[in-house]
Amino acid sequence: MCGIVGYAGKNRAVPYLLEGLEKLEYRGYDSAGIAVAEGGALRVTKTRGRISNLEALIAAEHQSPATVGIGHTRWATHGKPNDVNAHPHRSMSGRFCVVHNGIIENYLQLKAALQAEGYVFVSETDTEVIAHLLDKSWDGDFVSTVRKTAAQLEGAYAICVLCSDCPDQIVCTRWGSPLVLGVCESGTFIGSDVTAILRHTNDVYYLDGHETALVDAHGAVFFGKDGAAVDKQPRRIEWNLSAAQKGGYEHFMLKEIMEQPKAFSDTVSPRITADGTIAFEDFRLTDDEIRRLRRVAVVACGSAYHAGAAGKYVLEKLTRLPVEIDIASEFRYRDPVLDEDTLVVVISQSGETADTLAALRLANERGCKTLCIVNVVSSSIANEGGSVIYTHAGPEIAVATTKAYSAQVAVLYLIAGYLAGKKGLLDKEQLAAYCKDLSAMPALIQKTLDDCEKQIQALSQMFIPLEHAYFIGRNLDYACAMEASLKMKEISYIHSEAYAAGELKHGTISLIEKGTLVVALAAYSDVFQKTLSNIKEVKARGARVLAVSTERHVDALGEVDYRILIPDCNPLFSVTLEVLPMQLLGYYTARARGCDIDKPRNLAKSVTVE
Ligand code: F6R
Repeated sequence: MCGIVGYAGKNRAVPYLLEGLEKLEYRGYDSAGIAVAEGGALRVTKTRGRISNLEALIAAEHQSPATVGIGHTRWATHGKPNDVNAHPHRSMSGRFCVVHNGIIENYLQLKAALQAEGYVFVSETDTEVIAHLLDKSWDGDFVSTVRKTAAQLEGAYAICVLCSDCPDQIVCTRWGSPLVLGVCESGTFIGSDVTAILRHTNDVYYLDGHETALVDAHGAVFFGKDGAAVDKQPRRIEWNLSAAQKGGYEHFMLKEIMEQPKAFSDTVSPRITADGTIAFEDFRLTDDEIRRLRRVAVVACGSAYHAGAAGKYVLEKLTRLPVEIDIASEFRYRDPVLDEDTLVVVISQSGETADTLAALRLANERGCKTLCIVNVVSSSIANEGGSVIYTHAGPEIAVATTKAYSAQVAVLYLIAGYLAGKKGLLDKEQLAAYCKDLSAMPALIQKTLDDCEKQIQALSQMFIPLEHAYFIGRNLDYACAMEASLKMKEISYIHSEAYAAGELKHGTISLIEKGTLVVALAAYSDVFQKTLSNIKEVKARGARVLAVSTERHVDALGEVDYRILIPDCNPLFSVTLEVLPMQLLGYYTARARGCDIDKPRNLAKSVTVE
């Protein structure tokens, strides 16, 4: 979604701002803009569309020598994606310019009050209230004015402000949306995520909620919620910018698919001890609390929800705890039944998804034990979770998740084994065998990718003209079908549905006719025979079936039209292999259809609005 950059330093700001905005393009946006402090005035350049439009405008309009500036990519929420609604927004006096990520929930009340006092609004955005509030709160002190303004805002915000009276400085603050700062030789950089500043430094300061930073060319001074100075230490980001670049691949998505052996291994291997047990760096439940758990609730959105769906089957099988799985936007408004013996597992790649964050806060308020599976270090969900287990997938740039999904599933396997061990449901040998099977997975992931890429490329040809596709499966295969179907629809724009195979005959089978393409996920041994019956049902109605199964079932597959075979593995981990050809299928179909794979229409990488 929206992205923020800022720079105060010795050099010209414009090239740094544009470079930072380009690094944030992957988040999804529909307009972009910058503001720079030029002597006593603030100069704003902004436009609808891609950053290349903004570059063209800047090239035509000015070669600003300014060394301080802010920039923004906007993903429209309040008001159309047009030039006027693009950020930065200027205050009525022209003293302030602001860029903002998040949503101001009380903006209508604030706007009405400001209008009553004569403030004139030019845009439809919620952000413009911040600009005018800055004018209204101006007391001659830049930091104090921003703090007084932020205190009136409800909702989520990360804001960066320029003030014409303080042309060498930027002030930023946040609540609910992230901001990161980096200080180096050439100046101080601000970004809504680290990819915007990693080219300059790996040592970054994460601004905490309600903290404010006063930034200039020499560094940043931080103030806590109460306004007192805070001594912050930088954190080292272990990955470098090349991890966030295409590295010779045509698309980030393909690169990230191919990185899954490493993502899985980096996530799993540090948690498996030499004697074959599982250990986490931040698992705050005591053995006693684990034994007292009565149920588990898994909450997430999109693919993270699908990872949770796979985790549900494994967790229930191993821990014998009832596991319910919920979409975060449903969970938060259904007044869920929760208590202190419920473990709420929250899953999020970005750690910033608004509904998932709200669900976590609800679970925390209700006194549940919360455990967050997160990829982005120090993100809001990571900061607010009771315990945090990081997926070490590295930066994921493509909007459609692949390696983060696989790493999330890997963490769920680890949690299931860990809890089962603590509850005495897996003895020492069984746990060691489970860990051995898990450790074998990266090599099997690699083998699957190597074996099936060419075949998938060929099979994708028959998906190109499709308007509809169906993905069916049972149990773990159903969890995979949901993810496979999402991968297909979100990047190739082919309508697809995932169905629990046994449920088809309760309605949806009426859509199956001669030639309908049905992808049958049939890898999980426990239900293989049952899924086979469902394959026969759709075949009998004329469907063409592409089955995904394992080598151990090859003979039983019978007369499916096309088959993809994955290697045999511990059946509980089959989703991890089975999803790989499905990711490639979505990718190659979208590629053949000429779609914008890394930035599909209407989608954003980090969904920070509900
Ligand atoms: C689909 C996809 C999304 C995300 C969802 C949750 O490919 O990436 O469905 O999984 O928006 O995002 P996070 O994991 O950041 O909370």
